[in-house]
Amino acid sequence: MKQTIWTAAVAALAMGLPAGAMAQGQVNIICSVQAEWCSMLSTVYARTTGVKVNMSLKGSGEALAQLTAEKENPKTDLWFGGTGDPHLQAAEQNLSLEYKSPLLAQLHPWAQQQAQQSGYKTVGIYSGPLGFGYNTELVAKKKLPIPKTWADLLKPEYKGEIQVANPASSGTAYTMVATLVQLMGEDKAFDYLKGLHQNVSQYARSGTGPIKAVARGETAISISFVHDAPGERMQGFPVDTVTPADGTGAEIGSMSLVKGARNLEAAKKFYDWALAPSTQEMGAAAKQFQLPSNKSAKLDERVPDFKKIKFINYDYAKYGSSAERRRLIARWEKDVNSLPR
Ligand code: G6P
Repeated sequence: MKQTIWTAAVAALAMGLPAGAMAQGQVNIICSVQAEWCSMLSTVYARTTGVKVNMSLKGSGEALAQLTAEKENPKTDLWFGGTGDPHLQAAEQNLSLEYKSPLLAQLHPWAQQQAQQSGYKTVGIYSGPLGFGYNTELVAKKKLPIPKTWADLLKPEYKGEIQVANPASSGTAYTMVATLVQLMGEDKAFDYLKGLHQNVSQYARSGTGPIKAVARGETAISISFVHDAPGERMQGFPVDTVTPADGTGAEIGSMSLVKGARNLEAAKKFYDWALAPSTQEMGAAAKQFQLPSNKSAKLDERVPDFKKIKFINYDYAKYGSSAERRRLIARWEKDVNSLPR
Protein backbone atom coordinates (compact mmCIF):
# COMPACT_ATOMS: atom_id res chain seq x y z
CA MET A 1 0.00 0.00 0.00
CA LYS A 2 2.73 2.40 1.12
CA GLN A 3 4.71 1.46 -1.94
CA THR A 4 1.72 2.20 -4.21
CA ILE A 5 1.11 5.64 -2.67
CA TRP A 6 4.79 6.48 -2.89
CA THR A 7 4.92 5.33 -6.51
CA ALA A 8 1.84 7.40 -7.33
CA ALA A 9 3.34 10.45 -5.62
CA VAL A 10 6.58 10.10 -7.53
CA ALA A 11 4.71 9.63 -10.79
CA ALA A 12 2.62 12.69 -9.98
CA LEU A 13 5.69 14.76 -9.18
CA ALA A 14 7.32 13.60 -12.37
CA MET A 15 4.28 14.92 -14.26
CA GLY A 16 4.41 18.18 -12.33
CA LEU A 17 1.16 17.46 -10.48
CA PRO A 18 0.41 17.50 -6.78
CA ALA A 19 -0.04 13.95 -5.45
CA GLY A 20 -3.68 14.72 -4.52
CA ALA A 21 -4.52 15.56 -8.11
CA MET A 22 -3.16 12.22 -9.26
CA ALA A 23 -5.18 10.42 -6.62
CA GLN A 24 -8.40 12.14 -7.77
CA GLY A 25 -7.79 11.51 -11.45
CA GLN A 26 -8.04 13.81 -14.38
CA VAL A 27 -10.30 14.73 -17.25
CA ASN A 28 -9.30 16.00 -20.70
CA ILE A 29 -11.77 18.46 -22.18
CA ILE A 30 -12.11 20.33 -25.45
CA CYS A 31 -14.00 23.52 -24.70
CA SER A 32 -15.74 25.39 -27.53
CA VAL A 33 -17.20 28.36 -25.65
CA GLN A 34 -15.30 31.54 -24.81
CA ALA A 35 -12.12 31.32 -22.76
CA GLU A 36 -13.53 33.04 -19.62
CA TRP A 37 -16.28 30.43 -19.28
CA CYS A 38 -13.95 27.51 -20.03
CA SER A 39 -11.46 28.60 -17.41
CA MET A 40 -14.12 29.26 -14.78
CA LEU A 41 -15.51 25.74 -15.28
CA SER A 42 -12.09 24.13 -15.07
CA THR A 43 -10.95 26.13 -12.03
CA VAL A 44 -14.13 25.57 -10.02
CA TYR A 45 -14.31 21.89 -10.90
CA ALA A 46 -10.65 21.25 -10.06
CA ARG A 47 -10.94 23.14 -6.74
CA THR A 48 -14.10 21.45 -5.60
CA THR A 49 -13.29 17.89 -6.64
CA GLY A 50 -9.49 17.67 -6.73
CA VAL A 51 -9.72 16.34 -10.27
CA LYS A 52 -7.14 17.76 -12.64
CA VAL A 53 -8.83 19.36 -15.63
CA ASN A 54 -6.83 19.61 -18.85
CA MET A 55 -8.71 21.98 -21.10
CA SER A 56 -7.99 22.98 -24.65
CA LEU A 57 -10.00 25.62 -26.50
CA LYS A 58 -11.21 24.92 -30.02
CA GLY A 59 -13.99 26.22 -32.29
CA SER A 60 -16.79 23.75 -33.03
CA GLY A 61 -15.55 22.69 -36.49
CA GLU A 62 -11.96 22.40 -35.28
CA ALA A 63 -13.04 20.34 -32.27
CA LEU A 64 -14.82 17.89 -34.56
CA ALA A 65 -11.72 17.69 -36.76
CA GLN A 66 -9.58 16.89 -33.71
CA LEU A 67 -11.93 14.16 -32.48
CA THR A 68 -11.94 12.67 -35.98
CA ALA A 69 -8.14 12.69 -36.07
CA GLU A 70 -7.96 11.09 -32.59
CA LYS A 71 -10.57 8.45 -33.37
CA GLU A 72 -8.27 5.42 -33.05
CA ASN A 73 -6.55 6.72 -29.94
CA PRO A 74 -8.66 9.38 -28.20
CA LYS A 75 -6.86 11.87 -25.99
CA THR A 76 -10.03 13.80 -25.25
CA ASP A 77 -12.65 12.61 -22.75
CA LEU A 78 -15.36 15.23 -23.12
CA TRP A 79 -16.31 17.99 -25.54
CA PHE A 80 -18.02 20.95 -23.85
CA GLY A 81 -19.97 23.54 -25.84
CA GLY A 82 -19.93 24.78 -29.36
CA THR A 83 -22.84 24.63 -31.77
CA GLY A 84 -24.92 21.47 -31.87
CA ASP A 85 -24.59 20.55 -35.55
CA PRO A 86 -21.00 19.24 -35.34
CA HIS A 87 -21.88 17.41 -32.10
CA LEU A 88 -24.64 15.61 -34.04
CA GLN A 89 -22.14 14.84 -36.78
CA ALA A 90 -19.73 13.42 -34.16
CA ALA A 91 -22.56 11.21 -32.87
CA GLU A 92 -23.32 9.92 -36.36
CA GLN A 93 -19.63 9.19 -36.97
CA ASN A 94 -19.48 7.19 -33.74
CA LEU A 95 -16.98 9.56 -32.17
CA SER A 96 -19.14 10.09 -29.09
CA LEU A 97 -20.62 7.80 -26.51
CA GLU A 98 -24.24 7.18 -25.55
CA TYR A 99 -24.97 8.42 -22.03
CA LYS A 100 -28.19 9.30 -20.26
CA SER A 101 -27.44 11.65 -17.43
CA PRO A 102 -29.72 11.44 -14.38
CA LEU A 103 -30.21 15.20 -14.91
CA LEU A 104 -31.70 14.81 -18.39
CA ALA A 105 -35.29 15.23 -17.16
CA GLN A 106 -34.40 18.65 -15.71
CA LEU A 107 -33.60 20.05 -19.16
CA HIS A 108 -35.73 22.09 -21.57
CA PRO A 109 -37.40 20.03 -24.34
CA TRP A 110 -35.02 21.43 -27.01
CA ALA A 111 -32.02 20.14 -25.05
CA GLN A 112 -33.61 16.72 -24.54
CA GLN A 113 -34.56 16.58 -28.21
CA GLN A 114 -30.92 17.16 -29.14
CA ALA A 115 -30.06 14.13 -26.98
CA GLN A 116 -32.82 11.96 -28.46
CA GLN A 117 -31.89 12.84 -32.03
CA SER A 118 -28.31 11.70 -31.46
CA GLY A 119 -29.22 8.41 -29.75
CA TYR A 120 -28.17 10.11 -26.46
CA LYS A 121 -24.63 10.74 -27.71
CA THR A 122 -24.89 14.47 -27.13
CA VAL A 123 -27.06 16.83 -25.08
CA GLY A 124 -28.07 20.49 -25.20
CA ILE A 125 -26.38 22.72 -22.64
CA TYR A 126 -27.46 26.14 -23.91
CA SER A 127 -29.18 27.89 -26.79
CA GLY A 128 -28.69 31.22 -28.52
CA PRO A 129 -30.02 33.14 -31.54
CA LEU A 130 -28.02 34.23 -34.57
CA GLY A 131 -28.15 37.89 -35.53
CA PHE A 132 -26.13 40.93 -36.50
CA GLY A 133 -23.71 42.83 -34.29
CA TYR A 134 -22.86 46.47 -34.98
CA ASN A 135 -20.60 49.12 -33.57
CA THR A 136 -22.97 51.92 -32.56
CA GLU A 137 -20.32 54.65 -32.89
CA LEU A 138 -18.92 53.43 -36.19
CA VAL A 139 -22.30 53.09 -37.93
CA ALA A 140 -23.19 56.62 -36.80
CA LYS A 141 -19.84 58.02 -37.96
CA LYS A 142 -20.04 56.29 -41.33
CA LYS A 143 -23.76 57.07 -41.62
CA LEU A 144 -24.55 53.39 -42.19
CA PRO A 145 -28.12 52.20 -41.60
CA ILE A 146 -28.56 49.42 -39.03
CA PRO A 147 -29.34 46.25 -41.03
CA LYS A 148 -32.79 44.83 -40.26
CA THR A 149 -33.02 41.87 -42.62
CA TRP A 150 -30.65 39.41 -44.28
CA ALA A 151 -31.25 41.21 -47.60
CA ASP A 152 -30.04 44.49 -46.07
CA LEU A 153 -26.52 43.07 -45.67
CA LEU A 154 -26.13 42.92 -49.49
CA LYS A 155 -26.44 46.71 -49.86
CA PRO A 156 -23.37 48.24 -51.54
CA GLU A 157 -22.81 50.68 -48.66
CA TYR A 158 -21.73 47.74 -46.49
CA LYS A 159 -18.86 46.80 -48.82
CA GLY A 160 -15.86 45.84 -46.69
CA GLU A 161 -17.83 46.57 -43.50
CA ILE A 162 -19.01 43.03 -42.60
CA GLN A 163 -17.18 40.22 -40.84
CA VAL A 164 -18.37 36.67 -40.36
CA ALA A 165 -16.49 33.48 -39.52
CA ASN A 166 -15.51 30.63 -41.85
CA PRO A 167 -18.13 27.83 -41.72
CA ALA A 168 -15.46 25.10 -41.93
CA SER A 169 -13.87 26.10 -38.60
CA SER A 170 -16.78 27.90 -36.93
CA GLY A 171 -20.12 26.48 -35.86
CA THR A 172 -21.52 30.01 -35.72
CA ALA A 173 -20.84 30.50 -39.43
CA TYR A 174 -22.18 27.04 -40.30
CA THR A 175 -25.38 27.94 -38.39
CA MET A 176 -25.63 30.98 -40.68
CA VAL A 177 -25.23 28.88 -43.86
CA ALA A 178 -27.79 26.32 -42.66
CA THR A 179 -30.20 29.08 -41.57
CA LEU A 180 -30.03 30.78 -44.99
CA VAL A 181 -30.55 27.47 -46.82
CA GLN A 182 -33.66 26.81 -44.73
CA LEU A 183 -34.92 30.36 -45.12
CA MET A 184 -34.36 30.82 -48.87
CA GLY A 185 -33.85 27.36 -50.41
CA GLU A 186 -30.34 26.19 -51.25
CA ASP A 187 -29.63 27.81 -54.62
CA LYS A 188 -31.00 31.21 -53.55
CA ALA A 189 -29.03 30.95 -50.29
CA PHE A 190 -25.80 30.38 -52.23
CA ASP A 191 -26.58 33.33 -54.53
CA TYR A 192 -27.08 35.33 -51.36
CA LEU A 193 -23.77 34.12 -49.86
CA LYS A 194 -21.97 35.10 -53.09
CA GLY A 195 -23.47 38.59 -52.79
CA LEU A 196 -22.53 38.77 -49.12
CA HIS A 197 -18.96 37.74 -50.02
CA GLN A 198 -18.60 41.07 -51.85
CA ASN A 199 -19.27 42.96 -48.62
CA VAL A 200 -17.26 40.74 -46.25
CA SER A 201 -13.80 42.06 -45.39
CA GLN A 202 -12.61 38.91 -43.63
CA TYR A 203 -13.71 35.39 -42.65
CA ALA A 204 -12.55 34.81 -39.07
CA ARG A 205 -11.56 31.40 -37.74
CA SER A 206 -13.72 31.52 -34.65
CA GLY A 207 -17.34 32.54 -34.32
CA THR A 208 -16.61 35.25 -31.76
CA GLY A 209 -13.84 36.89 -33.83
CA PRO A 210 -16.27 39.10 -35.79
CA ILE A 211 -18.16 40.53 -32.78
CA LYS A 212 -14.86 41.26 -31.05
CA ALA A 213 -13.75 43.09 -34.21
CA VAL A 214 -17.02 45.06 -34.14
CA ALA A 215 -16.58 45.90 -30.46
CA ARG A 216 -13.06 47.20 -31.07
CA GLY A 217 -14.13 49.29 -34.05
CA GLU A 218 -12.23 47.22 -36.62
CA THR A 219 -15.41 46.57 -38.60
CA ALA A 220 -18.92 48.02 -38.47
CA ILE A 221 -21.08 44.88 -38.74
CA SER A 222 -20.80 41.20 -37.86
CA ILE A 223 -22.93 38.08 -38.17
CA SER A 224 -22.82 36.65 -34.66
CA PHE A 225 -24.73 35.03 -31.87
CA VAL A 226 -26.49 37.90 -30.13
CA HIS A 227 -25.63 36.54 -26.66
CA ASP A 228 -21.98 37.36 -27.39
CA ALA A 229 -22.63 41.13 -27.33
CA PRO A 230 -23.45 41.90 -23.66
CA GLY A 231 -20.04 40.65 -22.51
CA GLU A 232 -18.36 43.09 -24.91
CA ARG A 233 -20.64 45.91 -23.74
CA MET A 234 -19.73 45.15 -20.12
CA GLN A 235 -16.13 45.83 -21.08
CA GLY A 236 -17.20 49.28 -22.28
CA PHE A 237 -17.33 48.64 -26.04
CA PRO A 238 -20.08 50.33 -28.11
CA VAL A 239 -21.73 47.23 -29.52
CA ASP A 240 -25.36 46.31 -30.02
CA THR A 241 -27.25 43.59 -31.88
CA VAL A 242 -30.38 43.03 -33.89
CA THR A 243 -32.01 39.82 -35.11
CA PRO A 244 -33.19 39.67 -38.74
CA ALA A 245 -36.89 40.50 -39.12
CA ASP A 246 -37.25 37.82 -41.81
CA GLY A 247 -36.25 35.04 -39.41
CA THR A 248 -33.15 33.48 -37.94
CA GLY A 249 -31.72 30.25 -36.56
CA ALA A 250 -30.65 29.32 -33.05
CA GLU A 251 -27.85 27.04 -31.98
CA ILE A 252 -28.26 24.28 -29.44
CA GLY A 253 -24.86 24.43 -27.79
CA SER A 254 -24.05 20.83 -26.88
CA MET A 255 -21.83 18.51 -24.87
CA SER A 256 -20.60 15.01 -25.74
CA LEU A 257 -18.61 12.25 -24.10
CA VAL A 258 -15.87 10.87 -26.31
CA LYS A 259 -16.06 7.22 -27.33
CA GLY A 260 -13.00 5.42 -26.02
CA ALA A 261 -12.36 8.12 -23.37
CA ARG A 262 -9.51 7.07 -21.09
CA ASN A 263 -11.03 8.86 -18.10
CA LEU A 264 -14.63 7.90 -18.67
CA GLU A 265 -15.86 7.87 -15.06
CA ALA A 266 -14.30 11.28 -14.38
CA ALA A 267 -15.77 12.59 -17.63
CA LYS A 268 -19.28 11.36 -16.71
CA LYS A 269 -19.04 13.16 -13.36
CA PHE A 270 -18.05 16.39 -15.08
CA TYR A 271 -20.91 15.89 -17.58
CA ASP A 272 -23.52 15.57 -14.81
CA TRP A 273 -22.01 18.54 -12.97
CA ALA A 274 -22.18 20.64 -16.16
CA LEU A 275 -25.94 20.02 -16.43
CA ALA A 276 -26.70 21.18 -12.88
CA PRO A 277 -28.38 24.60 -12.46
CA SER A 278 -25.58 26.14 -10.38
CA THR A 279 -22.96 25.14 -12.96
CA GLN A 280 -25.04 26.51 -15.80
CA GLU A 281 -25.37 29.84 -13.97
CA MET A 282 -21.58 30.15 -14.24
CA GLY A 283 -22.05 31.08 -17.91
CA ALA A 284 -23.49 34.48 -16.93
CA ALA A 285 -20.89 34.84 -14.17
CA ALA A 286 -18.27 34.50 -16.93
CA LYS A 287 -20.16 37.13 -19.00
CA GLN A 288 -21.67 34.58 -21.41
CA PHE A 289 -25.38 35.03 -21.93
CA GLN A 290 -26.71 31.95 -23.67
CA LEU A 291 -30.02 30.46 -22.49
CA PRO A 292 -29.12 27.60 -20.08
CA SER A 293 -30.64 24.19 -20.79
CA ASN A 294 -31.50 23.34 -17.18
CA LYS A 295 -35.00 24.69 -16.50
CA SER A 296 -34.05 25.61 -12.92
CA ALA A 297 -30.99 27.70 -13.80
CA LYS A 298 -31.62 31.36 -12.95
CA LEU A 299 -31.87 33.58 -16.02
CA ASP A 300 -29.69 36.65 -16.20
CA GLU A 301 -31.61 39.65 -17.56
CA ARG A 302 -29.04 39.94 -20.38
CA VAL A 303 -30.00 36.55 -21.85
CA PRO A 304 -31.83 37.30 -25.15
CA ASP A 305 -35.63 37.15 -24.95
CA PHE A 306 -36.49 34.33 -27.37
CA LYS A 307 -40.15 35.37 -27.46
CA LYS A 308 -39.23 38.62 -29.22
CA ILE A 309 -37.28 36.91 -32.02
CA LYS A 310 -38.63 35.46 -35.25
CA PHE A 311 -37.13 31.99 -35.60
CA ILE A 312 -37.13 29.55 -38.48
CA ASN A 313 -37.98 25.96 -37.65
CA TYR A 314 -34.33 24.84 -37.74
CA ASP A 315 -34.00 21.18 -38.71
CA TYR A 316 -31.19 20.14 -36.37
CA ALA A 317 -31.17 16.50 -37.45
CA LYS A 318 -30.82 17.33 -41.15
CA TYR A 319 -28.22 20.08 -40.83
CA GLY A 320 -26.27 18.15 -38.21
CA SER A 321 -25.95 15.11 -40.46
CA SER A 322 -22.45 14.37 -41.73
CA ALA A 323 -23.34 14.32 -45.39
CA GLU A 324 -25.28 17.58 -45.30
CA ARG A 325 -22.77 19.50 -43.21
CA ARG A 326 -19.82 18.34 -45.33
CA ARG A 327 -21.65 19.04 -48.58
CA LEU A 328 -22.71 22.57 -47.60
CA ILE A 329 -19.25 23.50 -46.34
CA ALA A 330 -17.63 22.14 -49.52
CA ARG A 331 -20.14 24.06 -51.65
CA TRP A 332 -19.41 27.24 -49.71
CA GLU A 333 -15.63 26.78 -50.29
CA LYS A 334 -16.11 26.13 -53.99
CA ASP A 335 -18.92 28.53 -54.90
CA VAL A 336 -18.28 31.38 -52.46
CA ASN A 337 -14.88 31.47 -50.77
CA SER A 338 -13.00 30.95 -54.02
CA LEU A 339 -14.56 34.04 -55.62
CA PRO A 340 -12.53 37.25 -55.84
CA ARG A 341 -13.69 40.27 -53.86
C1 G6P B 1 -19.16 31.37 -28.91
C2 G6P B 1 -20.60 31.44 -28.51
C3 G6P B 1 -21.14 30.04 -28.33
C4 G6P B 1 -20.92 29.22 -29.58
C5 G6P B 1 -19.47 29.23 -29.95
C6 G6P B 1 -19.22 28.58 -31.29
O1 G6P B 1 -18.38 30.92 -27.88
O2 G6P B 1 -20.74 32.19 -27.34
O3 G6P B 1 -22.50 30.14 -28.02
O4 G6P B 1 -21.38 27.92 -29.39
O5 G6P B 1 -19.02 30.57 -30.06
O6 G6P B 1 -17.91 28.82 -31.65
P1 G6P B 1 -17.40 28.68 -33.13
O7 G6P B 1 -16.01 29.27 -33.12
O8 G6P B 1 -17.43 27.25 -33.47
O9 G6P B 1 -18.31 29.47 -34.02
